[in-house]
Amino acid sequence: MADTVEKPSSPAARTIAQLSREAQSCRRCALYKNATQTVFGEGSPRAAIMFVGEQPGDQEDRQGRPFVGPAGRLFDQALAEAGIDREETYVTNAVKHFKYEPRGKKRIHKRPDRGEIEACRWWLHAEIRLIKPKLIVALGATAARALSGRTVTISKLRGETLEFQGHMGLVTVHPSFLLRVPDAASRAEEYRKFITDLKRAARLGA
Ligand code: URA
Repeated sequence: MADTVEKPSSPAARTIAQLSREAQSCRRCALYKNATQTVFGEGSPRAAIMFVGEQPGDQEDRQGRPFVGPAGRLFDQALAEAGIDREETYVTNAVKHFKYEPRGKKRIHKRPDRGEIEACRWWLHAEIRLIKPKLIVALGATAARALSGRTVTISKLRGETLEFQGHMGLVTVHPSFLLRVPDAASRAEEYRKFITDLKRAARLGA
């Protein structure tokens, strides 16, 4: 781990750990009922860049960590290509429980609704207040909505510098969007645009 990461005994690290423990028993909305566990944010308590995704997926729900499934692996690869060390950032989600629909043995992701996003915003705001990042990057429309409090069209705001909760903000696509692009050429093009956004984030967060 990089030497910029605070020791677990620092006040910010302690408070994030405490917040994460408290979130384990969150009942602010009904999503806890079917999820395995709360998936809280993780990373450096002194992170300059905070990434906000939508909600944990199947793997995240099982492992209790954000962005560790297929979208997370793509995200890690893109971060590395953009020259960002994930361990120096803070990675979290707008909604901290996995929302899904059982289909046979599979659990199919369901997008969180407005009430669930609002209920979970309390945790997101608490994370922002503790981390005090220089830049917040919304990965996809749900994160952008949770951070701005309004419906956001990614394509309209992409590339602009915004303000999220008094912090500089950027919006880009969610990594799982890249996994869904059907043809290889378009997927490569979208991935390239994602890397461009992450490089911009690296410059703004430096
Ligand atoms: N998608 C998200 O939005 N967050 C995760 O943690 C995993 C997948």
